[in-house]
Amino acid sequence: MTVVDVGAGSGFYTFPASERVGPTGRVYAVDVSQELIDLIRERAAERHRSNIEALVSRPDHVPLPGELADRVLLANVLHGVPPATVAEAVRILRPGGRLVDVDWKKESTPGGPPVEHRLAATEARRTLEGYGLETNAEWDLGPYHYALMLEKKRRA
Ligand SMILES: C[S@@+](CC[C@H](N)C(=O)[O-])C[C@H]1O[C@@H](n2cnc3c(N)ncnc32)[C@H](O)[C@@H]1O
Repeated sequence: MTVVDVGAGSGFYTFPASERVGPTGRVYAVDVSQELIDLIRERAAERHRSNIEALVSRPDHVPLPGELADRVLLANVLHGVPPATVAEAVRILRPGGRLVDVDWKKESTPGGPPVEHRLAATEARRTLEGYGLETNAEWDLGPYHYALMLEKKRRA
């Protein structure tokens, strides 16, 4: 399985995904920050995770071919990125593949982005469905976060 972690940060989700897909899978960690990509590369080398590739992206360009990914992860990212980044996340997802969006609930919590920058799960869902994705699951992840899983339609 090929997973792309868009806005991977320091790799909080990249490393568990790497374990999950195993040696025959691949995890691409992409982020606009060169510093964070360097950090993931260092950590991947230290931990001998040869199935991780870390790449610097631009808000309007993820340097990967279209329809490459079985799964795309947007973790704590959707509330802060422009539409061009969401379009790129959908472009790299294969038809029938799934995008998982984890984000902060739109309520006051200790830590996290300002409430006015956050997207409620219903808003995130509406935004992502606007890119032609179909929601197939939604989870409450405890006091601070929710997760959505959406599928890219297969071609008719
Ligand atoms: C709040 S952090 C989340 C990191 C990680 N996904 C996590 O949940 O721990 C958001 C990350 O998105 C990156 N980022 C911001 N805008 C981006 C964009 N347009 N495309 C890709 N990454 C972006 C930031 O550099 C930062 O590392």
